[in-house]
Amino acid sequence: MTQTAEKNKSLRYLSGVQSSGRLHLGNYFGAIQNHIRLQEQGDCLYFIANYHSLTTIQDAELQKKYTFMAAADYLALGLDPAKALLFRQSDVPEVTELAWLLSTVTGMGLMERAHSYKDKIAKGIAPNLGLFFYPALMAADILIYQSDRVPVGQDQIQHIEMCRDMAGYFNHTFKKDVFKLPEGVLSAAPKVIGLTGGKMSKSEEASVIPIFGEPAEIKKKVMNIVTDSKGVADVKDPETNVIYLLYKLMAKPEETAVMEKGFRQGGMGYGDAKKLLLAKLEELFGGGVLAKRKKMDENPDLVEDVLLAGAKKARKIAAGTMELVYEATGIPVSKIKKAILNFEF
Ligand code: ADP
Ligand code: TRP
Repeated sequence: MTQTAEKNKSLRYLSGVQSSGRLHLGNYFGAIQNHIRLQEQGDCLYFIANYHSLTTIQDAELQKKYTFMAAADYLALGLDPAKALLFRQSDVPEVTELAWLLSTVTGMGLMERAHSYKDKIAKGIAPNLGLFFYPALMAADILIYQSDRVPVGQDQIQHIEMCRDMAGYFNHTFKKDVFKLPEGVLSAAPKVIGLTGGKMSKSEEASVIPIFGEPAEIKKKVMNIVTDSKGVADVKDPETNVIYLLYKLMAKPEETAVMEKGFRQGGMGYGDAKKLLLAKLEELFGGGVLAKRKKMDENPDLVEDVLLAGAKKARKIAAGTMELVYEATGIPVSKIKKAILNFEF
């Protein structure tokens, strides 16, 4: 598929990122780059999952700040509001209602199998109910917009499988095909390695390279990447090296080949490899892109306008699905519900 491919309006793509920290290279290469590419090809809806992030970010100022930052990052990275919707999850509050309705047809066994929940418990994090319920809310996000495809990183694939299960249970229980069964879409880099060797994740600050950090901070992060003590002339394995693996995501094949050869045959020191990585980061996310990002900080109203316009359209789609959901479940569309469904601003 190419940038100029005809838009296939019949395919709806939907995805979300949590407002739980600064967006990082894992978010970009695992999901956001794909989101922006897909805006040329389908009907795209992207949102900032602020309800989800409340399971971990429980500070009002920080919550608002991360939500704004995520939206501003998307716009600076190339999301075009004329081609794709960008909105806050909380501006379509019906998703929380749908999550509840889905929970009534979902077995505990399915929820208990969620890796992300089990991983958090294994790390000793005291779980809140929201963390356990997380996949039901995510399923509601996907199903309320009748999404066909969900472009995400590898860590979210199980959640999409759970979403398909919940959609199936609902349709079966209420004997109506209310929901489509969506499919996950992986990027070319579904699991980006972090600076500490595991997955790059907002939940571990030391693991991330933020997409838009201050140049001095990015430099420090890159130059401080821990390596073994091999010298310039020593032979190194590129496939286990964070510097190489991150560089490979961004460099042209011929540039990657130079670093790979230098590692495999000797001649490429870690210091020089780090400098090449820094230069690539600057090339991709510095200059014009960074200037665009700074403009967002200076014009927060612009970002707010985009989010509101996106939510307005997203709510219309959501309202259409909720009508089907109410009909299937026997929840009356009272005058109050009707007013909410038709709410315009
Ligand atoms: P985080 O895991 O850092 O909190 P989110 O959960 O908000 O980030 O993830 C937003 C999107 O970025 C999801 O589609 C997720 O799969 C993707 N993603 C996050 N981290 C990575 C990574 N290290 N590699 C690839 N994709 C990732
Ligand atoms: N759980 C996703 C993550 O952490 C964010 C998310 C919430 C999402 N709802 C979604 C992603 C719906 C795709 C579709 O990355």
